[in-house]
Amino acid sequence: MSEKYAVEARDLIKVYKTGELEVQALRGLSVVVAKGEMVALIGPSGSGKSTLLNIIGGLDRATAGYVAVMGSDLSQLNPSQLVEFRRKTVGHVFQNMNLIPTLNAAENVELPMAALGVKKEVRHKRVEELIDVVGLRERIDHKPGELSGGEQQRIALAAALANDPPLVLADEPTGELDTENAMIVVNYLAKVNKELAKTIIMVTHDPRVARAASRILRIQDGVIATDVAPSEEAAPTQASYTDMLKARITNIDGQLTSLDAEFRKNLISSDQFVERQTSLKKTREVLLDELHRLGVIH
Ligand SMILES: Nc1ncnc2c1ncn2[C@@H]1O[C@H](COP(=O)(O)OP(=O)(O)OP(=O)(O)O)[C@@H](O)[C@H]1O
Ligand SMILES: [Mg+2]
Repeated sequence: MSEKYAVEARDLIKVYKTGELEVQALRGLSVVVAKGEMVALIGPSGSGKSTLLNIIGGLDRATAGYVAVMGSDLSQLNPSQLVEFRRKTVGHVFQNMNLIPTLNAAENVELPMAALGVKKEVRHKRVEELIDVVGLRERIDHKPGELSGGEQQRIALAAALANDPPLVLADEPTGELDTENAMIVVNYLAKVNKELAKTIIMVTHDPRVARAASRILRIQDGVIATDVAPSEEAAPTQASYTDMLKARITNIDGQLTSLDAEFRKNLISSDQFVERQTSLKKTREVLLDELHRLGVIH
């Protein structure tokens, strides 16, 4: 066991038994993640990515092997220590169902702190700080249904950080987003990694999202098949990111113009027109907000 690693896994085996059927999800997987790294886990469907993340996060136990997170050997924790570990050491972001629909953004971020008995004044101050970290101050009173998918995931990230865990685990946090919003969310993960010094492990299918990490681990058949650093030139720079945002806005403007034309020629119903226009405008708004946040436009 070593304190210098955020995660140290040795020869992990995970066997799922369903009736007569046995599935070996992890087959002797070993990996170490240093504190402060941002690691992307990629690999085919069913290769064991979520299984590994759930074991690291204390949501599931390995069948055999050793796993230590921030210096604690997870196999040595009793059930109440495991609950404490899950609340204080890890923040989880999932693909969806991160937020409670009846609570607004602030209340969703506050909830994990209330669960730990943090004082009200402290909670409120921290909620504001965290919502600022993800750039959504003006959406603080919005319920999840009143936020775009990308904004919901940014609030989910703020909520995952509520109890200041040193490790953030994200299982396909951008899985349901279009590329633009996926890049916005992953850039906030990168910001949290750099500015708040959190270790981040994220599962993704999207190579562009993976390139935002400092290391890419490819899992195949329950073991790490490759472990590479994304090449320097492949990493998205601030300039290419803002260019991408601007190009996307120009593209959306073009789509809005053609949509108008289609509607005027009676090629689409008014319902279709309104639905597509609303969705395009919402994406445009997110992109513009992001350019504001980056200080590119005022
Ligand atoms: N609770 C479970 N019970 C039985 N088998 C399971 C369970 N969870 C996962 N498995 C099996 O373990 C293997 C690894 O699953 P896992 O969810 O880790 O894959 P994954 O890499 O996350 O895939 P995906 O990219 O589709 O999310 C798969 O064959 C899956 O069917
Ligand atoms: Mg999975």
